[in-house]
Amino acid sequence: MQTGFRGKHLISLQEWTKEEIDTLLDVSFDLKKKFAMRERTPILQDETVFLMFFEQSTRTRNSMEAGITQLGGHAHFLDTSNMQIAHGESAKDTAVILSSFGHAIACRNCFWEQGNKYLRELARWSRAPIINMQCDLYHPLQGLADLMTIQEKFRNTERVKVSIIWAYATSHKKPISVPLSQALLFPRYAMDVTLAYPKGYELPDWAIEQAKQNAEENGGSFRITHDQEEAYRNADVVIPKNWGSWVTNQSDAVVDDLLEANRHWKCTEELMSLTSKNSIYMHALPADRQNEVDDSVIDGPHSVVYDEAENRLHTSKAVMALTMGGRA
Ligand code: CP
Repeated sequence: MQTGFRGKHLISLQEWTKEEIDTLLDVSFDLKKKFAMRERTPILQDETVFLMFFEQSTRTRNSMEAGITQLGGHAHFLDTSNMQIAHGESAKDTAVILSSFGHAIACRNCFWEQGNKYLRELARWSRAPIINMQCDLYHPLQGLADLMTIQEKFRNTERVKVSIIWAYATSHKKPISVPLSQALLFPRYAMDVTLAYPKGYELPDWAIEQAKQNAEENGGSFRITHDQEEAYRNADVVIPKNWGSWVTNQSDAVVDDLLEANRHWKCTEELMSLTSKNSIYMHALPADRQNEVDDSVIDGPHSVVYDEAENRLHTSKAVMALTMGGRA
C-alpha cells in the first residue's frame, strides 16, 4: 500500500497511481466508519486549509469545511471576488502567501482553458499541497466519491457496465470535468465504460485516447455511442448529466440551437427500464430536475445520489488527511 502523500498535490486522479487511489479509498472507508461510530479523528489538529472559490458550490465547499472540522483543523472560505485576485494579484503571490500561513490550498476555478492552468500555477509556487475542487478539466474529489459509491454498491467493479450519458439542462453551461474524470478513472477499475452524447458534445481527443489506454492497461473497456437507448440498455450504472459544448463552442451562452435540438436526452423511467435489474442512477448534483432527469427517477428506487453526495465528505477527509498530514 502506498502511504507517503504528505505535500502531494491532487490536480487530477490520472496523476495518482492506482495504488495511491486505493489508499485514498481505504482511508475514506475507514473515516466513514469512524464518523458513523462517532469516533473522534483529530488527525489535522490546528491545521488550516484555504478554500478558494471562483464559482458557487454546495457539496464541495461544505464537505471540505465539515471535513476539516471533523479532522480537528479549520477551513478559511475565500470568495475570490473578495480577494486581491479581483484586482489582478497573481497566482504565484497568492500561493506563496497562503501556503506560508497554512497547510493546504484548495481551489475551484472552472473557467474554460484557464482553471487547470491556474491550479498548476498555484502548485508551482505553493509550499503546501494544492487540492483541485474542480477546474475546467477535472473534478478529482467527485471522481473519488463516485468510485467509492460504485464500490459500495457492487463490491467488485470488474466488468461493471457504466454509462456516462449527456443530458439536457438549462440551469448553466456545466464544465466537462465530471464526465472527463469519470471516463478516465472508471476504466482503471476494469469497468466497461460507455460514453454517450449527441454529436457536438465531444470530450477532448487526448482524454478519449487516455481513457482507452486506461481500459487496455487495466482490463476494462471504453466506447462511445451517440445512441441514448444503447447507452441505457443493460447498464449497471447510469450517470446522465449535462455538460457544455466547450470543446467546439467556447461561448458562455447556456441555451443554443445545439442544446435545444437535444431536449430528448433526458433520464426517464422508460429509459431506466432498459437498464439491468439492480442498476443504480448517479448524479454529481446539482441536478436540473425535469430537464436532465424526471423526479420519479432521481427520487426513485435506482437512485443513489444522496449516498454519492455523502461520500464527498469521507473522500474529501481522506484527501486532506493524507496530503496535509500523513507521511512524507
Ligand atoms: N458535485 C459538486 O461538485 O457539487 P457542488 O458544485 O455543489 O460543489
